[in-house]
Amino acid sequence: MPAPTDTSQINGERYPTLTFPTIGPWPKFQRPLCLGVMASGSGTNFEALQESIHAGDLDAELRLLVVNRPGCGAKARAERLGIACELRDHRQFDSREALDHELVRTFQDAGVEAVVMAGWMRIVTPVLIEAFPGKLINIHPSLLPAFKGMDAVGQSLQAGVRIAGCSVHEVLKDVDAGPILAQAAVPVLPGDDRDSLAARIQREEHRLLPWATALAGQRWRAAADDQG
Ligand code: GAR
Repeated sequence: MPAPTDTSQINGERYPTLTFPTIGPWPKFQRPLCLGVMASGSGTNFEALQESIHAGDLDAELRLLVVNRPGCGAKARAERLGIACELRDHRQFDSREALDHELVRTFQDAGVEAVVMAGWMRIVTPVLIEAFPGKLINIHPSLLPAFKGMDAVGQSLQAGVRIAGCSVHEVLKDVDAGPILAQAAVPVLPGDDRDSLAARIQREEHRLLPWATALAGQRWRAAADDQG
């Protein structure tokens, strides 16, 4: 009998997920969460948020996507989905803070109440974090606090872990270090390379991010109610 954590015996097709939070009834709000999204890459997580909204699960509206790369897939997805998208090319700004001031202005002008970093590949500064206190969340392709920073999937393979996964967390000043909202775990299978493992993790990300956003939304709205 293999040890319980010996994932070498796991059939990756039948058991792609080792553990995922129980999804209960999706919380419904007095009015839908009004979200901004930030993305740098292909935008599959951004689209997963929209699909969850469309399915009637995540009670939210994606008011605006901001991308920092002109030709990124996320921008094309926004156009296809009919979601407003603005480009803020980081190369046009003198500092991280200058970019973040512009992001704050952009999101505030759009009237968003919280911001989801769905594959935003830039370090953010207190300028952005403090403008949305507790209301800036990020998805990262590892089981934090392991493998923070760039190329988390490559780091996981390099370390030889048998279980990998993804985390959604609140963003604080230290990179990938804020309170964890939700995590999902997948096996690392024999013969995995970066692409195959990243794809398995992404399948879970697409389920996890909408659910974690809904959970975070409950807190945001409860805090707003407390403030009257
Ligand atoms: C996702 O896997 C996300 O976890 C990762 O970027 C990918 C974006 O994919 N984020 C980070 O690595 C942040 N440190 P997508 O553009 O297809 O959503």
